Formats: sequence, structure tokens, C-alpha cells
Amino acid sequence: MTESFKKQLNQYVSLMEEELPIYLPEGSHPQQTVIDAMRYSLMAGGKRVRAVLVLHLCRLCGGGIEKALPFAAAIEMIHAYSLIHDDLPCMDDDDLRRGKPSCHIAFGEAAALLAGDGLLTRAFETALASDTIALVGADRAAKAAGQLALAAGCLGMVGGQMIDLENEGKAVEEKDLLNMYALKTGALLRVSARMGCIVAGAEEELIQRADRYAAAVGLAFQIVDDILDVTADEAKLGKHVGSDAENNKTTYVTIHTLEEARARVDQLVEEARAAVRGSRLEDEFLLELAQMLAGRQY
Ligand code: IPE
Ligand code: IPE
Ligand code: MG
Ligand code: MG
Ligand code: MG
Repeated sequence: MTESFKKQLNQYVSLMEEELPIYLPEGSHPQQTVIDAMRYSLMAGGKRVRAVLVLHLCRLCGGGIEKALPFAAAIEMIHAYSLIHDDLPCMDDDDLRRGKPSCHIAFGEAAALLAGDGLLTRAFETALASDTIALVGADRAAKAAGQLALAAGCLGMVGGQMIDLENEGKAVEEKDLLNMYALKTGALLRVSARMGCIVAGAEEELIQRADRYAAAVGLAFQIVDDILDVTADEAKLGKHVGSDAENNKTTYVTIHTLEEARARVDQLVEEARAAVRGSRLEDEFLLELAQMLAGRQY
């Protein structure tokens, strides 16, 4: 990783850490518990990869970073909600997330369920707020929010999570596994890249390229997640290792060896790079981001 990549990445992440809390309700409310649980999970750290994609693609397509912020916040809210629900006892039953007790351990199951619901809804409040519309225009806000809904819902992340749970304890064919990954993980990464382009007013050709880049990165990202579930240092990972085996999941590394999995990740990084080559999106930061995510330790 080059110094300039690291510096740029840190700037994006710091910006999100400053901005994200601003999008949650202020003051104290009778329903403070759910708001506290939402804040707890949203602000627990995390790599902020999805937000970084929104911010950076918006800039690459010629939009100001302030236009991307509400959409970067919205995708991080939806991602945080997906993790809260993913950790519930009825799903992956994990008590550690981002190095802290999972939301349902800290706040109880009912509050965690509602915190997820609250974050999902708040994401759309944020993307369609009058301030956001004033900033990016109604057409772009509606297009980005519509695509976000599609990616988050039953034909996207939620659908992938359903298939993942139904696959537990079964032999799963590789093509079905990859399709499930494209939904549960790929959909949110793809829409992050797309929204960045959309709010900047990019033409369709660039949106398609950004989408292909993020689809390849997304698949690599989930394969690395599977590798780390077997190989990572728990303290660094911030979640328990061995969760997949405990839940009898077929993953990329139950079908393939770790070496094969790593080779596939490298191939996908190449695919991601090829998707943006020769266009306005051919950019050192995007190339390094794909590489960094492939080699990550957590
Ligand atoms: C974890 O996502 C869930 C997957 C889709 C693999 P991240 O690895 O992006 O989680 P954080 O946000 O960095 O904690
Ligand atoms: C989760 O996949 C994908 C989501 C949509 C949350 P995992 O269940 O493998 O994610 P981790 O390993 O718990 O973060
Ligand atoms: Mg899961
Ligand atoms: Mg999980
Ligand atoms: Mg995992």
C-alpha cells in the first residue's frame, strides 16, 4: 500500500466517523433505547468500505464529496443493520462484532431487532431528506434510493441472507454459493459504487463499469471473509473465528483449499481492475482498494 492510498483512505474513514452520528436523531427521546442501540452498532468501527466506495466514485465522476455523504451514511446504516440481524441467535448466533458484544448481547434481542429496523428505515429517511434533495436534486436522490432499496431487499442482501440460512447443513453447489454471495455481500457493495456515480450525475457507461468493479470486489470480499473465518486472529478480526463451521455452512473454503481461494481472490482483483481500465474510473486509489481488501487481515 502506498502512503498516498493510506492517507486518502484514512481521510475518508475519519470523515465518516465524524459525519455518521450527525445523521442519527439528536436529543433524548422516550424511545432512547432503540436510538442508543442504533448508535452503538453504527459507531462500533468497521472498515467503512461501502461508504468509501460511495465517496470515492462520486469524486471520480466529478461530484463533490458533500453530495455523496448522505448516501455513504445510508449504506453504512443498512450494512450495520444487516450485521445486527446477522448476529442474532436465530441467524448466525454470534456474540462478538467489531470487537464488542453484538447488539443483542448489549441491548437484548428485541432492542437489537428494532435497532436493525430503525437503521434500515433511517437510511431511506437520510437518502430522501429534503436537505439531500436540495443537495443532489430529486431525480438523482430518487434513483440512488431506488437502487439502494433493490440491493438491500429480498432480491438483494435480504434474499442472500435467506439462502445462506436455508443452505446450512446442506451440500451446496459452487454456482449456487456464488449466486448467494452476489446477493448477500455483492449487492450492497455494488450499489455503493453505483450510488456514488449516480449522485455525481455520471453517464450509464461509467455506472456499469463501477458496478462491474464492485461486483468483482464484492465476491473477493466474501471469499476473504470465509478465509478469515478459518485463519484469522480473533482479536484482530473483532468477531469469532470458526463461526461458519459451527453453523455447518458451506463456504468457499469448504469447497476449495485455502490456496485455491486465495488464487480466486487474486483473479477477482484483476477482474475488478479490468472493469475500470481505459475509462475515467481507472484510478490508483480504486486499484489499491481492491488489492487492500483482498489482502486484509480483518
Ligand atoms: C462483514 O462486512 C460482513 C460481510 C458482508 C462479509 P465487513 O467486513 O465490511 O464488516 P465491517 O463493517 O468492516 O465490520
Ligand atoms: C454476512 O455474511 C453478510 C451480511 C449480509 C451481513 P457473514 O455471516 O459471513 O458475515 P460475518 O462473518 O458474520 O461478518
Ligand atoms: Mg451470516
Ligand atoms: Mg455472520
Ligand atoms: Mg463470515
